[in-house]
Amino acid sequence: MFTAAILAFGGAGVVASAQEATSKQSPGEKLVRTNDCTSCHAVARKVVGPAYRDVAKKYRGQPNAVQKLSQKIKQGGSGVWGPIPMTPHPALTTAQLKQMVEWVLSLGAQPAKQPAASAATPSEPEAAAKQYSYTLADGTTVKLDFPLFVEGMEKDQKVTKDIFHGYEIYNSYCYRCHGQDATGSEIAPDLRHSLTAGMTGQRFLSTAMAGRQEKGMPSWAGFLSEDEVKNIYGYVKGRSLDLVPVGRPPSEMD
Ligand code: HEC
Ligand code: HEC
Repeated sequence: MFTAAILAFGGAGVVASAQEATSKQSPGEKLVRTNDCTSCHAVARKVVGPAYRDVAKKYRGQPNAVQKLSQKIKQGGSGVWGPIPMTPHPALTTAQLKQMVEWVLSLGAQPAKQPAASAATPSEPEAAAKQYSYTLADGTTVKLDFPLFVEGMEKDQKVTKDIFHGYEIYNSYCYRCHGQDATGSEIAPDLRHSLTAGMTGQRFLSTAMAGRQEKGMPSWAGFLSEDEVKNIYGYVKGRSLDLVPVGRPPSEMD
């Protein structure tokens, strides 16, 4: 019930933004962009699931690929690309699945810098990962590949827009089970501890998007975007290092 409601809500939001996008999209591409696929996939890079282009490459020339992939999207599952499961999509019709898969498979034929690719991945991380160093209370230094604080404002502990956004989304959707301000609760793991125990940002993203329905952890694909979950991760990371305080952190918007 819960997930169905979230997916429906998320879907509506995506539809609105997709309508503003180019009308040159094929029906299959449109369907992919207006469903939850975008939370977990991009054309040219792995997100939670494989890059569409890698899927196209893998299944090139296979006569039963459309049928096989349609069924996989409908039922969900893992094991072909790794241990992370794709969530099932029982509401999609055979005709819709066929159009979507045909669009995905068509990407294999395109050379690297086609317009379809750049339109699909507006936030491709191109620059070499910059490092940000922070000193913890015990005097040790940690290096992160994203900033917690606005540069030059580390002393005032003014968090970046992204971290502040993470704080807001966390305390809108995750706090109910994981505890206010990532302080832990009885219902679900303390996510600060998950990170100190070694959970990577990639694993955090995958777990949040795919969920663990049987254990009471909802799937957030279609409701939260990749960037939003990354913002939550950044906030929880800052909390796990005790660099970001409990409560509303001061931010560059203050
Ligand atoms: C919760 C994240 C998530 C969502 C949402 C999602 N996928 Fe996936 N997808 C994955 C993962 C993870 C895999 C790899 C599964 C595996 O290893 O077997 C995958 C695999 C695939 C594959 C390749 C399947 C195979 O067996 O090789 C296709 C095609 C695909 N997804 C298309 C879609 C489409 C289209 C949608 C939207 C209707 C979608 N996905 C939504 C995570 C997701
Ligand atoms: C309805 C309750 C509920 C909500 C809301 C919820 N979670 Fe969870 N979450 C859980 C439960 C329960 C688990 C433990 C699942 C298990 O036992 O494997 C979990 C596990 C996780 C894990 C894996 C932790 C680990 O150490 O393995 C991550 C990451 C996570 N949740 C992220 C989030 C994020 C991000 C949000 C908000 C967008 C969120 N959760 C919202 C219930 C929830």
